[in-house]
Amino acid sequence: MEYPEEPFRIKSVQPIQRLTAAERISALTKADYNIFMVPADNVYIDMLTDSGTGAMSSAQWAGIMNGDESYAGATSFYRLKEVVERVFGFEHFVPTHQGRAAEHILSGILVKPGNVVPSNTHFDTTEANIRVCGGRPVNLGASGTSSAAQQHPFKGNMDLAALRRLIEETGAENIPYGMVTITDNAGGGQPVSMENLRGISEIYRSQGIPFFIDACRYAENAYFIKQREAGYADKSIETIAREFFSLADGATMSGKKDGLVNIGGFLAVNDRELFTDIRNTLILKEGFPTYGGLAGRDMEAMAQGLEEGLDENYLEYRIKQTAYLGESLAALGVPVVKPIGGHAIYIDAGAFLPHIPVEEFPGISLVSELYLEGGVRGVELGSVAFAHQDPDNGQWRHPPMELVRLAIPRRVYTRAHLDHVLASMENIVERKSTLRGYKITWAPEHLRHFTARFAPL
Ligand code: F0G
Repeated sequence: MEYPEEPFRIKSVQPIQRLTAAERISALTKADYNIFMVPADNVYIDMLTDSGTGAMSSAQWAGIMNGDESYAGATSFYRLKEVVERVFGFEHFVPTHQGRAAEHILSGILVKPGNVVPSNTHFDTTEANIRVCGGRPVNLGASGTSSAAQQHPFKGNMDLAALRRLIEETGAENIPYGMVTITDNAGGGQPVSMENLRGISEIYRSQGIPFFIDACRYAENAYFIKQREAGYADKSIETIAREFFSLADGATMSGKKDGLVNIGGFLAVNDRELFTDIRNTLILKEGFPTYGGLAGRDMEAMAQGLEEGLDENYLEYRIKQTAYLGESLAALGVPVVKPIGGHAIYIDAGAFLPHIPVEEFPGISLVSELYLEGGVRGVELGSVAFAHQDPDNGQWRHPPMELVRLAIPRRVYTRAHLDHVLASMENIVERKSTLRGYKITWAPEHLRHFTARFAPL
């Protein structure tokens, strides 16, 4: 399996410790088997998320010192504005403390009870932000996206026929905006093609529905377009990004992914009136429009990070490192979503542990075992994260796959770290039929995976 050469050298390090097997059992039990509740210094390789966990460059750290902390009109805001306008191309934007703040502001202004918001696959916070406003998020992934094994170069694509049908059935007046997530995250970190984005844009725009891109991992998506879609091989990542953003009316962005920062995000729009509402809500909830929920230094680091995130050498290393882990896991006989996506490996825990029914959460079983085996922290993106009760009949609806995600923080782990994850999984493969299911002993109403408590069956 090819491992890419790193286009950087390491300038600053952080020691990590390994607990004994007995200490790991104690840590997981104390956390009520919810991996989110395990203190980070009890984790050896942390693949819970690629969000905010990347290593910043020396130029970003220099930006942290140079940040302008003025309340109004900080130079760091104008630096960020220059990059956002150049790469994303929308007329207006406000910084927010992270992506979900942008989602919260957008859905809070536009979503009314009974509204529908379509996407290829909404992420959990996006879904929840629509639901708390009384709206209904609808996922319209293209056919094949609910099967782990099926190969498709753009498995994040939206089903355009289903989108047309949904608009016809719902009525465009009940769809305050439409979305697409690039790359799709909840469906496997899979890219969306330019052709599909063009089709989505045409449909939304012909119906007068504002089109928003959930842009967290837009640079990785642009890299896949360059690699896989005819006509883009010679275009720069920035040119490709500008092209797809020109198809939309706005974007929500978490800078914690392709912005290569530990905190930060923004909300960008073209519509002047909507922007005025956004700015008013921002002032109420996040902060003055030239800092949003951020310190000046955070905006400075994000401006620099957005530039670095577009670098093709970096993106090649990034995507190949992810492929190394994914292909090696597949070679061990672990069912992973194919093709390997951008920021994470998605293990089909339902297929890996067929003796554990979805009601007993095979994903939680695998996440627990990986931690107990090797101190590796992954996350369940299956029925705990995404099953919900039908508001009409109270029945539980389960997602198409019981996934476990191993997300790769950017510029953080070496090959030896990934090989440790592989060795841990290899041991689990040998005894997988002995793994048991779990039950939920307590859960909140929304976003239950973050704080639910579990017990082994
Ligand atoms: N949209 C997508 C596709 C995401 O993956 C996330 C976050 C958000 C929006 C929200 O951004 O965290 O800055 O508020 N995803 C993280 C993850 C948490 O682990 O995938 P945020």
